[in-house]
Amino acid sequence: MHSILLLLATAATAAAAAAAVSSADPPTFSFDQLWALENNLWTNFLYPANIQQINATDDSVFADNVQGRVDITRTFDGRELNNEYIFGLFSQPDSVSLTGIPIAYNITQFTANQNIASATTVVTFNATTVGVIVPLAIDTWMAFDAHGKIVQYDVTFRWFDYLLDSLLLGLQQKYNTTDPATVQRTLAQTLATTICEVAETSCTGTNLQYRTRDECMQFLTGETRFGKAYELGRNTLLCREVHKHMVQYRPDEHCAHIGPSGGNMCVDDMSYGQVVTQAYFSQSWVANGYADDNMWVSRT
Ligand SMILES: *[C@@H]1O[C@H](CO)[C@@H](O)[C@H](O)[C@H]1NC(C)=O
Ligand SMILES: *[C@@H]1O[C@H](CO)[C@@H](O)[C@H](O)[C@H]1NC(C)=O
Ligand SMILES: *[C@@H]1O[C@H](CO)[C@@H](O)[C@H](O)[C@H]1NC(C)=O
Ligand SMILES: *[C@@H]1O[C@H](CO)[C@@H](O)[C@H](O)[C@H]1NC(C)=O
Repeated sequence: MHSILLLLATAATAAAAAAAVSSADPPTFSFDQLWALENNLWTNFLYPANIQQINATDDSVFADNVQGRVDITRTFDGRELNNEYIFGLFSQPDSVSLTGIPIAYNITQFTANQNIASATTVVTFNATTVGVIVPLAIDTWMAFDAHGKIVQYDVTFRWFDYLLDSLLLGLQQKYNTTDPATVQRTLAQTLATTICEVAETSCTGTNLQYRTRDECMQFLTGETRFGKAYELGRNTLLCREVHKHMVQYRPDEHCAHIGPSGGNMCVDDMSYGQVVTQAYFSQSWVANGYADDNMWVSRT
């Protein structure tokens, strides 16, 4: 029923309909069009379709100037970076990772107005490293430009702390121990080893992060913390684990993120209060002009 052709055709119609609207105002789509655009995103998110999105420009679901925020990580500006994070991160079934690859989705909540869609989607991941098939509930707000491209998104990984604990519990059997501290320590060794391998392979010359394997392992397992469920964009091992997957796409951009400095991505730069009150987005998330100047809207 939801063939990709139908989705694209609907998206094109939506774009044509919206073109009549002034470029300063957010475009207006029908509920039907927004439902199609939402499904188009998730269809492209699944592996292996997501591989095609990593380098995408004209075919990207993102607008060139997209702004994105993910609650457990941080904010991401621009299409190139967002292609790499949203699609590149989940397209490597053979690489050690916590969540693995998305293989199915089910939209369980959806409402939409003007150019904004809010949804909850249960995405099934094949967590190949842990050896489980696991559902993730992902809450999203999406805003589309006149061409049907995502110009803003705001994502919350619902129950992510519960997920992380469940994955650690699942590793008890694999690691043959019931001691949570031992599980975390063993996982830290595994993650650090693969991060150090990536650093050695891809971060050379001016992108060098660690002089030796020992220095790398010591930093990742001894000098930086493992990280809590909300700390995937802070100075943690888990943050460098996330960024490890992107290094191969653009070492110049991503090597610093897995290094000791964290390169403005894995850093403790914001307090809880600053995160919650950050005025980041260009467009208000309240449709139809009802709260254009709320505290999350950027003044610049
Ligand atoms: C993306 O572009 C890079 C550099 O041009 C290339 O090496 C890589 O194979 C491309 N990846 C895909 C999936 O097209
Ligand atoms: C979502 O799940 C329901 C119930 O299991 C199923 O009938 C439906 O086909 C699924 N939809 C998608 C898009 O996967
Ligand atoms: C999950 O990934 C593993 C390893 O690639 C594969 O053997 C298995 O068939 C996958 N499971 C599903 C349901 O796709
Ligand atoms: C798991 O640990 C228990 C207790 O330490 C030990 O007796 C057992 O041989 C271990 N099993 C495997 C498969 O390593």
